[in-house]
Amino acid sequence: MTGDVGVGADVVELAVRAAVRAPSPHNTQPWEFHAGPDGIEVFLDESRLLRVADPGGREAALACGAALLNMRIALEAAGHAATVEVLPDRTRPRLAGVVRIGGTHRPTPEQTRLAGAVARRHTNRRPFLDRPVPAPARHALTAAADHEGARLVLLSTSELDAFAALLRQADHVQSEDAAFRAELGEWTHPGDRSDGVPASAGGPRPPSSALLALRDYGGPAAGREREFERDPLVGVLTTAGDTRRHWLLAGLAMERVLLAATVAGLSASFLAQPIEVDPVRREVAALLAGRGHPQTALRIGYGYPGAATPRRPVEDVTG
Ligand SMILES: Cc1cc2nc3c(=O)[nH]c(=O)nc-3n(C[C@H](O)[C@H](O)[C@H](O)COP(=O)(O)O)c2cc1C
Repeated sequence: MTGDVGVGADVVELAVRAAVRAPSPHNTQPWEFHAGPDGIEVFLDESRLLRVADPGGREAALACGAALLNMRIALEAAGHAATVEVLPDRTRPRLAGVVRIGGTHRPTPEQTRLAGAVARRHTNRRPFLDRPVPAPARHALTAAADHEGARLVLLSTSELDAFAALLRQADHVQSEDAAFRAELGEWTHPGDRSDGVPASAGGPRPPSSALLALRDYGGPAAGREREFERDPLVGVLTTAGDTRRHWLLAGLAMERVLLAATVAGLSASFLAQPIEVDPVRREVAALLAGRGHPQTALRIGYGYPGAATPRRPVEDVTG
């Protein structure tokens, strides 16, 4: 790793190892890291954008934001003071953000717990148990989003019905789109790559009458139909604005919510379809009525642990 951030190469490596565990759409891992005099910089890797599902790069920005949060938390838990600045340099638009490292830091118990969850967090596309998420756990999730300046709107029963209808609508639009299907196919594989979604990460197929439409990543499990939880908990992550800066900050919040869920023993998967299809996204925003711009949606509940997906080696994403 090149550059000098005033800490050892081992500390930089610890941070980047945490960063790459972040979730990204179709596991594209759209990032590059550079340790320079100003800190560890995260660059958007434009060659890894999803041109069909994410033409504006909004979801790639969420992923880079999540990587920034993982670095900050891992550094803090390792005893380093760390701060994140997003879009620190107008002259370098590919530079999504930087983590500045300075001085020693006494980690809080929460930082230690969140850092411990980085490697245990996996998207879980399987059915969850019919066990309600209690109020303290719900509070931990919404507080995690608040902490990073975003908002997690946990949908009421009637809102969930309306959201689910939009989800099915968007899922239908995408599954009828040959370009979308081809792109998804490019990022889905049996398990022989260090990026993309391996077959082992797919879940079973919900019945066609199911409330929630889940993205079909294929794999052996997709051939089996299974009932999903009867009363799912769905949260929509929102931001006050809808600029690239908001997307990056939403990424930090998204990852903190996912780590807080992991700490609380909860699993999560994404329901991004209605946020990816623009006209449907506007309807989701209308449903939320003044509670912000939707950035992603999560299904949260108690499940058996999900499986890890691969990551490109640290050497391939640093320079
Ligand atoms: C912005 C964003 C949108 C995503 N949308 C979906 C989705 O709609 N359906 C899904 O099953 N997974 C979705 N994912 C999850 C990714 O496929 C997953 O993060 C990636 O495969 C890496 O796996 P991991 O989360 O288990 O580490 C999304 C992830 C991100 C960051």
